[in-house]
Amino acid sequence: MDFLQLVTKRYSVRKYADRKVEPDKIARCIEAARLAPSACNSQPWKFVIIDEPELKTKVAKAAFEKIISINRFIFEAPVLVLLISQPQKLSAKLCGIVKRRDFRLMDIGIAAEHFCLAAAEQGLGTCMLGWFNERPVRKLLSIPKGKRIELVITAGYPDTDKIPAKNRKTTGQITSYNKF
Ligand SMILES: Cc1cc2nc3c(=O)[nH]c(=O)nc-3n(C[C@H](O)[C@H](O)[C@H](O)COP(=O)(O)O)c2cc1C
Repeated sequence: MDFLQLVTKRYSVRKYADRKVEPDKIARCIEAARLAPSACNSQPWKFVIIDEPELKTKVAKAAFEKIISINRFIFEAPVLVLLISQPQKLSAKLCGIVKRRDFRLMDIGIAAEHFCLAAAEQGLGTCMLGWFNERPVRKLLSIPKGKRIELVITAGYPDTDKIPAKNRKTTGQITSYNKF
């Protein structure tokens, strides 16, 4: 598939078909994420895949219990992927401190998009979620102290073939050449 076609095909899918996702498709998405670049090649990520239905419901409940949320569609998604930050290499951490940049979050964002593009290429839909209750999910899955769930990705077959139009700033609004 042409790369820009693929990028256009990926959108935030918030309605999923009642259809199981083949594990090898998720494995291919993970492989794409594994190959993502990261500051000092730290690879500061771990992907926890939740595809067992009962556990998935428990995770969804933990993630949204007690908050009124637009993210309730998480219950319908057949697969959840938790992106958990791992310690960076010392060099990446030090560079981040000196330059006051959080490279770890950048790295995780890039890996997340690799995952989502690989999903789109295989006909799967995804949505990245940053709005969820982290603590109860950490407790449920016994995620060790200090390791944060930075992002949740839902994955499954979209319930429609229609790809919504992109709502984006124009190229002119976001670019300039040779000056600010
Ligand atoms: C870091 C991040 C966090 C996001 N969190 C949520 C979320 O909590 N709930 C949600 O429905 N969408 C979430 N989104 C999806 C964005 O709303 C979506 O990407 C954006 O509106 C552009 O639409 P598109 O993905 O369909 O092209 C998130 C996206 C990113 C990159």
